[in-house]
Amino acid sequence: MSATARARRSGELPPGPRMPIGLQTLAMRTRQRPFLERARRRYGSIFSAEVVGLGKTVIVSDPELIKQTFRADPDVLHAGTGSPLRVMLGDHSLLGIDEDEHMRQRKLLLPPFKGQRMQQYESVVAEIAAEEISHWPDGTELASDKPMQRITLRAILRAVFGAEGERLHTLEAMIPRWTALGSRLVLAPWLQRSLGSRSPWSRFLALRGQLDAIFDELIAVAKADPELNQRTDVLALLVQARHEDDTPMSNAEIRDELVTLLAAGHETTAHTLAWAIERIRRHPAVLARLVQEAAEGGKAYREATIREVQRSRPVIAFAGRVVRKPFELGGYQLQPHTRVLLAACLTHYDPALFAHPDRFDPDRFMGVVPDTYSWIPFGGGIRRCIGASFAHMEMDVVLRVLLQRAELMPTSAPDEPWAFRGVVWAPGDGGRVAVRQHVRQPPEGVLAAA
Ligand code: HEM
Repeated sequence: MSATARARRSGELPPGPRMPIGLQTLAMRTRQRPFLERARRRYGSIFSAEVVGLGKTVIVSDPELIKQTFRADPDVLHAGTGSPLRVMLGDHSLLGIDEDEHMRQRKLLLPPFKGQRMQQYESVVAEIAAEEISHWPDGTELASDKPMQRITLRAILRAVFGAEGERLHTLEAMIPRWTALGSRLVLAPWLQRSLGSRSPWSRFLALRGQLDAIFDELIAVAKADPELNQRTDVLALLVQARHEDDTPMSNAEIRDELVTLLAAGHETTAHTLAWAIERIRRHPAVLARLVQEAAEGGKAYREATIREVQRSRPVIAFAGRVVRKPFELGGYQLQPHTRVLLAACLTHYDPALFAHPDRFDPDRFMGVVPDTYSWIPFGGGIRRCIGASFAHMEMDVVLRVLLQRAELMPTSAPDEPWAFRGVVWAPGDGGRVAVRQHVRQPPEGVLAAA
């Protein structure tokens, strides 16, 4: 009997690589895709892996199994309580809660990030992007990741808090330090203890304390605003929200949601934009089409390009769930505490789903709505990223402004390697960008439409 059939009959986990856990962990952090591809070739689209800090783990890449996982009842599979991000973001974070509490909080946070709200944010993002790009040196290469982070952080701060102000500038300086430190610590549980005031965990907690103090001030200002009920920013909604028993959200709850939106809402988008630059510069024909389309006021090819960047360079490699009640998947009875990782980084490279997956080809998404269970950069089901429309709008606007205001210079440099930054997979050299600065006047109506 094969190992797979034996495991199915005995209620064991599916078979997987037999390397020692230390080597598997190293492979997952340094050569993830080749390691997983090899495992998939050998064991199929559901296999086990062992990774320090994750416990028993099953990796899945088949769209049918992904569908079953996304659609499982929230009391069977959890996404929050077992998430390593909970320690970083707090017990009340949307990313760290489950079941009824999660649904209540999600309902509250969703409206400002729904598709129809996007238009009101577009001009703000265009303005922020134009300002940032105007400072890029003419004809000199630089890493685009930090500039992109400045754009996306400023954009999410504006969406969450509504207006500019001194406190927001302080947050702009503090949040990148806090997320960089948190990303180093999130998958290193052995570092999550205070070993003196200079240890990384103590510094992380101290920074979080400073962030919380600013959030408390902003909450107090919002509560005192006589026009609070006219405001549409996220903070105003949270301050006015009521639990089912009519009590308001506590400051601790609001602070955890604020920090979640700021952290989840800027790094992912910034690194996807850095990848977009990295990909487009290496594909001059794609670049030429994008430039022409932007000059003519179109966006279909740009949107397809963004989807192809997210297919070929998903910054979040997995959507994760933890089994709470026995769950059957692919013929295996998964037991409580088993972690299920839905692998965008594998599914997106399956030649049966995407022909010639190694080819960067935006045309595969022209006039095509990506499939919910095989294109999964934003996860899925009741945990699908609430910022997906916001992120898509942001990436579209930033690229449009870049293509219209400057000349993006192509390159023949080799592809940048994938580099793990703790939570996201980013271009190893920061997504090098080079532009010739010349403000091309877009045709009438294009900026107005923004
Ligand atoms: C390119 C940019 C982004 C990517 C690739 C991304 C990716 C993801 C992924 C993979 C998940 C987990 C989904 C699952 O488990 O099924 C997620 C959840 C989440 N994202 Fe994003 N995200 C992005 C931008 C944003 C933005 C701009 C925001 C801010 C509004 C945001 C806020 C969240 C939140 C709050 C959750 C938790 C949802 C829940 O548990 O109900 N993300 N995101």
